[in-house]
Amino acid sequence: MSDTHALLSDYDAEDIIEKDRRHVWHHLLQHKIHEEQDPKIFVEGQGVRVTDIHGVEYLDASSGGVWCVNVGYGRESMAKVIHDQLLKLPYYAGVAGTVPAAQFADKLTNLLPGLDRVFFANSGSEANEKAFKIIRQIAHLNGNQKSQVLYRDRDYHGTTIACLAASGHEERRQAYGPFPDGFAAIPHALCYRCPFGLSYPDCDIECAHALEDVIQEEGPDTIGGLILEPITAGGGVIPPVQEYYPIIQEICEKYGVVLIMDEVVCGFGRTGTMFGFEHYEVAPDIVTMAKGMASSYAPISAAAVRSEIFEEFLHDPGEKYDYFRDISTYGGCTGGFAAALENMRIVEEEDLVENARAVGAYLLDRLQELADHPNVGDVRGKGLFAGIELVADKSSKVPLGEDVMGAVMRIVTEEGVLIGRTNRSIPGHNNTLNIAPPLIVSKADIDEIVAAVRVGIEKGC
Ligand SMILES: Cc1ncc(COP(=O)(O)O)c(C=O)c1O
Repeated sequence: MSDTHALLSDYDAEDIIEKDRRHVWHHLLQHKIHEEQDPKIFVEGQGVRVTDIHGVEYLDASSGGVWCVNVGYGRESMAKVIHDQLLKLPYYAGVAGTVPAAQFADKLTNLLPGLDRVFFANSGSEANEKAFKIIRQIAHLNGNQKSQVLYRDRDYHGTTIACLAASGHEERRQAYGPFPDGFAAIPHALCYRCPFGLSYPDCDIECAHALEDVIQEEGPDTIGGLILEPITAGGGVIPPVQEYYPIIQEICEKYGVVLIMDEVVCGFGRTGTMFGFEHYEVAPDIVTMAKGMASSYAPISAAAVRSEIFEEFLHDPGEKYDYFRDISTYGGCTGGFAAALENMRIVEEEDLVENARAVGAYLLDRLQELADHPNVGDVRGKGLFAGIELVADKSSKVPLGEDVMGAVMRIVTEEGVLIGRTNRSIPGHNNTLNIAPPLIVSKADIDEIVAAVRVGIEKGC
């Protein structure tokens, strides 16, 4: 065993749990529960499985809790490229270039036709902030008012104040206002709970046409951008119908609205295409990304933009502040670029996008077997991102409440499988389980996941 391994495993479990309980402020958690139960602490992972501090192994059908360890755990080549790059040059601020940044930007833009400039940052929220700032600055540069950004109900774009202002997760926003002006919502695209009370295909895709109504209400001269998750993730796993995006694109073009696609979750294979928007006939102007970009072996995010957008910022050097005056210190950490390059190599060489498509289709088929259960209202998804919406009864569609959802989650975990759920996001509608295993998952793993979810629903509801 190397020294590093000795160091990492040389601990007393009870001591670590106590240190965590006393000092770590966990994300999205009411800490009072730790007066009665230990904090969950993970120690190691291999493939699709992780082990906790008590030595209990789980099949991680959440890819690290928030759908990001796409190539799976324990990848030596990922660790090696990061190690080698850090020894060579760990960092230089993004005002200058580095070798892996240039290589990755080249690789990425080859995958995104028409988008040929990349701004690097550290988190999904930050990448979206960059997109908002780009839109606001273009309005300033052109001397117009088109600085407002529209977002969709149930979509999530991040944790910062501006990203929350642009997110349709009312419960995530609660207590964090006042929010900045310049953001307004369009309706969500969940057919199971159509915001217009209509049924597909006789609905004329009202949810997409509603964009034009909101633009008219807010004033076309004020709308600079629209940000959408190609497939809503944390808001309940919502793939819009096929006709949705061409209508959205047409309206954006009509009103000169920049279309930002937030690929933070869907990007890099999650839904069975390299980017989620590729399921649809649509060509975004800005694509933001994070999570699966380096499978979270190192933090990295980016906003990729059309050349026309980049050119708005090209002027002769002078006194004016007309270039994009933005920097993220850690957007210059080279470990993230090296990890992203290796991640891409793995995704391509192991054909993980195709695995996500094929095994994802198997996952959805298997989950449909649960649809007969009286509390399963809807099963939906794309590739390796599936959602199961649980209801008190099928005809009223009344969502299951916190207690039952909590019980289902607990039982699935006891069955040895980690899944996710809508988490204090949509008022009264935190009733969708989500399943998003690493893209290397096999059909046998899927059988294990579905069996655990079945037990969770049957015993918990
Ligand atoms: C679609 C989407 N965009 C943005 C974010 C924010 O990313 P981060 O947590 O890296 O800031 C998330 C986080 O889950 C997300 O799901």
